[in-house]
Amino acid sequence: YFYGQSPAIYPAPIASGSEDWSGAYQKAKRFVTQLTLDEKINLTAGYTSTTNGCAGNIAAIPRLHFPGMCLQDAGNGIRGSDFVNGYPSGIHVGASWNKHLAHQRGHYMGLEYRTKGINVILGPTIGPLGRIITSGRNWESYSNDPYLSGKLVAETVQATQGVGVITSTKHFIVNEQESNRVPTTNSRGQSVESVSSNVDDKTLHELYLWPFQEALRAGSGNIMCSYNRINNSHSCQNSKILNGILKGELGFQGFVVSDWGAQHSGVASALAGLDVAMPLPYDFWGNNLTAAIKNGSVPTTRLDDMITRVIATWYQLGQDSSFPDPGIGMPIDITAAHSQVNARNNASRATLMQGAVEGHVLVKNSNHALPLKSPKSLSIYGYDAKRPDTVVPTSSPYGPWGLGYTAFNFLSIIDNLLGIPNPNVISQIAPYGTLLSGGGSAAVTPLYWDAPFDALQQRARIDGTELFWDFATLNSTSSVYENTDACLVFINAYAAEGFDRSGIHDDFSDALVLNIADQCANTIVIIHNAGIRLVDQFVSHPNVTAIIFAHLPGQDSGSALVSLLYGDENFSGKLPYTVAKNESDYGALLFAAQPVEPFMLFPQSNFSEGVYIDYRAFDKLNLVPRYEFGFGLSYTTFQYSNLVVQKQSLGNSGPYPVGPIQQGGHVDLWDTVATVSADIKNTGCVTGQEVVQLYVGIPGGPVKQLRGFEKPSLNSEQSQTLSFPLTRKDLSIWNVVTQKWQLQSGTYHIYVGSSSRILPLSGTLVI
Ligand code: NOJ
Repeated sequence: YFYGQSPAIYPAPIASGSEDWSGAYQKAKRFVTQLTLDEKINLTAGYTSTTNGCAGNIAAIPRLHFPGMCLQDAGNGIRGSDFVNGYPSGIHVGASWNKHLAHQRGHYMGLEYRTKGINVILGPTIGPLGRIITSGRNWESYSNDPYLSGKLVAETVQATQGVGVITSTKHFIVNEQESNRVPTTNSRGQSVESVSSNVDDKTLHELYLWPFQEALRAGSGNIMCSYNRINNSHSCQNSKILNGILKGELGFQGFVVSDWGAQHSGVASALAGLDVAMPLPYDFWGNNLTAAIKNGSVPTTRLDDMITRVIATWYQLGQDSSFPDPGIGMPIDITAAHSQVNARNNASRATLMQGAVEGHVLVKNSNHALPLKSPKSLSIYGYDAKRPDTVVPTSSPYGPWGLGYTAFNFLSIIDNLLGIPNPNVISQIAPYGTLLSGGGSAAVTPLYWDAPFDALQQRARIDGTELFWDFATLNSTSSVYENTDACLVFINAYAAEGFDRSGIHDDFSDALVLNIADQCANTIVIIHNAGIRLVDQFVSHPNVTAIIFAHLPGQDSGSALVSLLYGDENFSGKLPYTVAKNESDYGALLFAAQPVEPFMLFPQSNFSEGVYIDYRAFDKLNLVPRYEFGFGLSYTTFQYSNLVVQKQSLGNSGPYPVGPIQQGGHVDLWDTVATVSADIKNTGCVTGQEVVQLYVGIPGGPVKQLRGFEKPSLNSEQSQTLSFPLTRKDLSIWNVVTQKWQLQSGTYHIYVGSSSRILPLSGTLVI
C-alpha cells in the first residue's frame, strides 16, 4: 500500500476466545445474551459519574450484578487520590534495566488500584517510544529501544494483571509527539487535523509495534487507541491498525478503549474495531449507535463483539468475584470529607525505594569525587534541590493532587512569579522544587516529598557535616565557601503531556552549573530529567567532577540519591537512550513535525528514517555520542569473558513461524532458536549490580540491536555465568510481502558488554 495511506481491513475480527480466554468468553457470551439493546449500547461508552472521580466509568447493570468499571490514570501510580504512593516514572524504570523491579512495581501498583476499586489502570505507557527527542511524554515510557521497553512492559502487565487489575497499554500507536496531537483551530479559524504519523509496515513492526506485541503476549486485557492519525486515518477508526494488526495478526482478545476524546466518527470507528468510547459517547455512539444498529449500518455481531470483549476481560481478570466496588477509593472531591480508602501497603516500601535507587545513572566520576567520604562540609545549590514551598491541594502546581496534571497551565503563572521573561526557558524546567515525576495525566500523587536537600540534612546530622546552601536566588549567583569539600548542583528538565519540550538544555540551568563550577573545585551535577538532556555545556569544565542523570525517582527521591552519593548503594542504572554531544546529532528527530505547506490543515509526520532512531541512527551515521545507549558507571569494575553461542535444534527449522495464533501472535515466535552465555566477574572492591547487555546484528538489519539483558548482583571477586535465550522473533526481520517474521539465513553477529559501545565479547551465529 502507499506510504501515508492506510489500507482498509474489514470486517472487524470477532474475538475467538482462544486458549486461556475460553472460560471467560463462555461466561461473557452467556451474559451478553441477557442484555437489552439499551444495556448493550451503554456498555460501549463512558458516562459522567456523580459519585466518583475516576477518569472514566462504565455504567453498572444491577439486574445482572455487573457493578460497572472505573478507569483511572496512570502507569506510575494512582493520580488524584489520597493515601497512594508515587512510584518511579517509566523512564526511571527503563534506566534501572531491572526486570524483577519492574515486576514488583507492577504488582504493588496493581494492589493499590485494586484497593481503590479501579478496574482498569490507564497504563503502562509504551507509546510514545521516544522517536522525537523533545516529545512531552517520553518520560512515561521506559526506553526508546523496543526490546528494553518490551521486556519491562511484559513484566508490568503480568504483575499488575496478576492481582486482577486490567492494564490499558497505551497509546496505540505511533503517538510520538504532543504538538498537534488533537484537532485544533488555527489563528485563521480553520480546523487543523491531528498529526498523521506516516509509517511503513516494516518500521511499524520492528520498532513501534514490538513492545505492544510483548504486552499482548503478556496478556494485556485492554489497549488504548491514540490521539494521532496513522497514515492519515485516525487511530481509533483505523481498520488496518485495529482490525488488521491488533485483532487479526496479533489475536487480541480484550477490548479497545479510545483515548479521551480520540473518537472522531460513529459508524466508521465501530466498523474499524473500536470497542469503548471514553469518556462519553458524545454524538458518535449512544443513541446514534442504536440508530446505526437498527438501520443496519453497524451489524449486531459487531456490537455484540464490542461488549463481549469488555465483559470477557472483566471475567478473565476475575473481577466478577470479590473485587472492590468500582471507584470506592476515588472521591469526586478529594478535599471534601469522604470515607478513606488506604491503598498503601507496607510491603511496597522496599520496591519504591529500590526502584528510586536503580534509575539513577552515573555518567561522569573523576578524581573519585563519588562516593562522598564523610565530608566535613557540603554546599548545595539549585532550584531542584529542595521541596516545593507549598503542597496545598488543587491550587498548587506541585501539591499532591495538583502535581503536574495542571502544571502546564501554570507555566504562565510561573513565568510571572519569577519575573523571567522567556517562557521557553522556563517551560523547560520545574523551578518550584525538585522534580520527581513529569506532568500530565501520568503525574504521580506522592505520599510525601522526599527532596534531596531533606535527605542531605538528615545525613549531615548523622555525620556532623557542615551544610551551606543557597536556593534564594534561582540562579544562585552566590559565592562558594572556599573550604567546602563538594558542591552539589541540582537542576532539572521538565516535560509534560500536552506540549513538547522547547529544547534539551536551557541556558538558565547551564549558567547556574557553570557559575558554581567556576568557584568550586569539586562540583557534582545532579539532573532530574524527564527526557534526554545535554551536558556538553559543562561536561568538560575541569571542576565538574561528577554528573548524575537522576531521572524521575518518585516519592523516595532524596533518600535514594543520598544512599548512592554516600556509597551505601552502588550505582547500577544505565541510560535507556543516547545522549548526544549536540542537538544537531539527532537530526530531524529533535523536534516534532509542524504543519507546513501544502498540509497546513493536515500536519504530516513522515517516519522516513525507518528503524534508525537513537543508537541505531548513531551507529548508521557513525556519530560519536556523549554517552551511548546502555552506558552507566559503577563504584566497582566488571570483567567479561567466555562467550558461547549455541544454536538449538528446533522443531520448526523453517524461516517462518507456523504455530497457532494466540494473543500476541504466532506462539512459536517465542521459541528459543539459539542460546548465548557469557561470564561476568566483579573485579573491584565493592558489591555491585551490572547490566549485562546482548546485541545482535541480524543480516540485512541495523549493525546491532538489543536482544538480551540481565542484571546480576556480584560481590567483589564473585563471578557468574549468564545465559540469554534468543527467540525466533529476536532473530527475525518483518517480511512485508509474506506479512510474517522471517529468520534470515546467514551470519548473525553477537556482542556482549556493558553498553551499546563497550562490547568486549563478540561472536557469530550462522543460520
Ligand atoms: C488523555 C491521555 O492521553 C491518556 O493517557 C489518559 O489516560 C487520558 N487522558 C485519561 O486521563
